[in-house]
Amino acid sequence: MSLTPTLAQAWIDRWDRQQEGYLPDREIMFAVIADAVAAKADRPDPLVLDVACGPGSLGARIRERLPLARVIGVDADPVLLELARTAYGFELVDRNLADPAWIAELPTEPIDAIVSTTALHWLYPDQLAALYAQSAKLLRPGGILLNGDDMATRATDIDQLHQAIGTGQLEREGVGDRENWEQWWTAITAEPELATAVAERDDRRWEHPSDSGATYEQHLKLLHEAGFRTAESIWQYGRRRIIAAVN
Ligand SMILES: C[S@@+](CC[C@H](N)C(=O)[O-])C[C@H]1O[C@@H](n2cnc3c(N)ncnc32)[C@H](O)[C@@H]1O
Repeated sequence: MSLTPTLAQAWIDRWDRQQEGYLPDREIMFAVIADAVAAKADRPDPLVLDVACGPGSLGARIRERLPLARVIGVDADPVLLELARTAYGFELVDRNLADPAWIAELPTEPIDAIVSTTALHWLYPDQLAALYAQSAKLLRPGGILLNGDDMATRATDIDQLHQAIGTGQLEREGVGDRENWEQWWTAITAEPELATAVAERDDRRWEHPSDSGATYEQHLKLLHEAGFRTAESIWQYGRRRIIAAVN
């Protein structure tokens, strides 16, 4: 027996509902990122790299918006990669972004867009700096990096407001009873069709922060130091932002 596309999609749909329990506007973030990729693409088939792609939800939304886009996902989680591979047929790179050698697996042609959602807070600041520097080299001139994630501002009084806005949003959206991260992982760990990937995941767990705490201002600084011409928030709800950086 092996994982079917239908079963993989069911697990991804369940992942998406779980993630929306933390990010009620996750689909809006995907739509904003897809619009920005489309706006900066100078061809109908842009090459798009989704870093820390998980099971491929963002890449799938970009392909809905730009059906000819070539999406390559990078992640180090064998279970999530197996779901993306089976459901979406993406090109996938199984590499840890903390190891700078991950870029050796990529095509040599310039990349039009590098995207990411709710993942780069798993990187330590030096790893984030290295990723941004590598991204500036990988992107074509005029290419765009889009990072959607929670980012505190260094202005603590404003950050308190952002947190309050986020709490209010969760209450209003009524997502408090969604399956949570731990419950989703407990459930998928028992999926027989993923037993090999689950065992591999147990073997290769890596040490990372649950939240590096990199502030919005630190992200902008690192992006400018990496060589991006401009970097600015293009969407925000409380702490949650999408930063666009143009090469
Ligand atoms: C909360 S999930 C988000 C997944 C996906 N971007 C989404 O929006 O559904 C965080 C993802 O980042 C990946 N990730 C975190 N650190 C990583 C690293 N150093 N190398 C590769 N992937 C990493 C995890 O494996 C996981 O898939």
